[in-house]
Amino acid sequence: MPVISFANAKGGAGKTTAALLLATEVAARGKRVTIFDADPQKWISKWFELPRTCPGISVVSEMSPASITEQITHATEYSDYVIVDLEGTENLIVANALSVSDLVVVPIQGSSMDARGGAKILTLIKKLEKIVRQDIKHCVVLTRTNAAVTTRAMKSVQEFLSTQNIDVLMTPIVERAAFRDLFEFGGGLANLDASVVSGVAKARENAALYAAEILERAITVPKKRWYNIFKRAS
Ligand SMILES: Nc1ncnc2c1ncn2[C@@H]1O[C@H](COP(=O)(O)OP(=O)(O)O)[C@@H](O)[C@H]1O
Ligand SMILES: [Mg+2]
Repeated sequence: MPVISFANAKGGAGKTTAALLLATEVAARGKRVTIFDADPQKWISKWFELPRTCPGISVVSEMSPASITEQITHATEYSDYVIVDLEGTENLIVANALSVSDLVVVPIQGSSMDARGGAKILTLIKKLEKIVRQDIKHCVVLTRTNAAVTTRAMKSVQEFLSTQNIDVLMTPIVERAAFRDLFEFGGGLANLDASVVSGVAKARENAALYAAEILERAITVPKKRWYNIFKRAS
C-alpha cells in the first residue's frame, strides 16, 4: 500500500510533526500504519513509547541505507499506509526512501531558509526521477503558519513555489500547541484533553483536512525493480 515520505533538507521544517499528524489521522480511521523513523532525533520512536498509545500504528526505528528499501517494501505488505519520517539532510537513506515512495511530502515553513531546504529536496527528486526513469510524485505543505495572518515571509515562499509549478496543499499546518503536545502526551489528537490543551477542536479540523488532501494524492504506483542500485554505494 502507499508509501508516503516526508522530506526537506532543512531541520525544523515540520517534517516529524506532519508525519505523525498524518499517521494518527489515518489510524483514527481504522487503518494500519507503519512509520519508519529515519530521523536521528527519534521523536516518533519516543512518542511510540509513551503510555498513551495509538492503535493501528507500528514504528520501525532501526534501518540502514542498505536495508531501508526492502524494509519499506516488506512493510507495504502488512500496512495500509507506510509513512517515512526522514532526516533533515541529503543522504543515502533519504535517496533510497524517496525512490520507493508513492508520494513525497515536502513541508516548508514560512521562511526563506526553509524554502531553500525544500528546493534542495525538489532537485534531488528530479535527479532520482532521471535515475529510476519514472516520476516521483511530490507536493509541498506549508507548515507552522499563523492562523490569523499571512506573513511577508509566507507570501515570498508561496510566490517562489508558484514560479516552480509545484503542487501545494490548500491546507497549511497551522502553528498550534496541540500539535506539539502530541509528542508529550502520546496518542492522537482525539486523545488530547481540550480542558488542558488549547485549540484542540481547531487542531483536529486542521489535521483532518490536511490528511484528506494527502490521501487524495497517495495512490500506489507500480514500481520497477530499480531500487537495488543504491545499495552498492552504501
Ligand atoms: N504546526 C506546528 N505547531 C506547533 N509547533 C510545531 C508545528 N510544526 C512543528 N512544530 C515544532 O517545531 C519544531 C520542529 O518541528 P519538527 O516537526 O520536529 O521538524 P523537522 O522534523 O522538520 O525537524 C518542534 O519543536 C515542533 O514541535
Ligand atoms: Mg524530524
